[in-house]
Amino acid sequence: MPTIQDVARRAGVAPITASRVINNNGYASQDVRQRVLRAVEELGYVPNTLARSLRSRRTNTLALILTDITNPFFTTVARGVEDAASDAGYTVIFCNTDENEDEEQKYLNLLLQKRVDGILLVPARSGHGAIQSALAQGVPLVVIDRRVANEPVDVVRCDSEGGAYALTRRLIRSGYQRIALLNGPKGVSTAEDRAAGYLRALAEAGLQEHALVFYGHFTQASGAEMTTRALLHQPPPQALFAANNFIAIGALQKIRELDVRIPEDLALVGFDDLPPALVTFPFLTVVAQPAYEMGQRAARMLIDRLEGRLSGECREIILPAEIIIRQSSGPIHLEEETTP
Ligand code: RIB
Repeated sequence: MPTIQDVARRAGVAPITASRVINNNGYASQDVRQRVLRAVEELGYVPNTLARSLRSRRTNTLALILTDITNPFFTTVARGVEDAASDAGYTVIFCNTDENEDEEQKYLNLLLQKRVDGILLVPARSGHGAIQSALAQGVPLVVIDRRVANEPVDVVRCDSEGGAYALTRRLIRSGYQRIALLNGPKGVSTAEDRAAGYLRALAEAGLQEHALVFYGHFTQASGAEMTTRALLHQPPPQALFAANNFIAIGALQKIRELDVRIPEDLALVGFDDLPPALVTFPFLTVVAQPAYEMGQRAARMLIDRLEGRLSGECREIILPAEIIIRQSSGPIHLEEETTP
């Protein structure tokens, strides 16, 4: 295992200079910085953060493992985590798994080596491997956004089932009978819950034979592909319900390619509102999730756990979704309601 002395020798500088560059504290010329960093890379030097953290026992560092760091929903969750952690004196490491369980386990193992004090996890699927690894090392972990079955961990999420039920019921009461759900993958709890709420509203109205669910991925490309399949169905749907923001964007792009008018020819609604900064003319009817609050509440719960203010049974916080009616759903039943 290369040492700081090996790096210094290879870079032709004193060990203290190499340490200053690696720990980014104190002055070093651009030339020295480049020589040291090149030596670090060539030798594969890894700073011994474990020894440092063992001395201090705490690293005052949390980690947030997300499934899609490009998604504005998750960046808003991350903002909530960051603000709550910073207020409590913690820094946050962000990891992105691209909905991949192997990536999730890889990051979990790395974070445990780095001795982070606590972990916030959006599970790619069951989360079982990651959760068991953290529990085995006594590292507190809180799950955000998605449910996990039979795992002794705290969870903070939104009521996906209730939100999907409430918006589908609104569409039905506004006269739409053939509503197609463009969903994420089976095995992801938010996709399962949104399908359950959609199907509950249809069954309650005696329309279960009109149920039309397409499973894909929480991506724009999958949204476009599922829209193509849905519009080929006979008889065609009168409304599309996109199970998240990226699916809705992909559906919108495909609908516009086909010169289909929203809402005159086809209604389009979705899960997740888009940040106002990203949308010049918000026209999509959505089930909005309290993303910032989810991140903030999860981080606070984790810090309370690791600082001993919260103990005992695991808790599940389910925050209500909010329905925001806009132009894309056409004339809609205006009964005031929140998600049940
Ligand atoms: O767009 C992000 C939302 O859709 C999250 O709830 C995530 O779980 C996905 O379902």
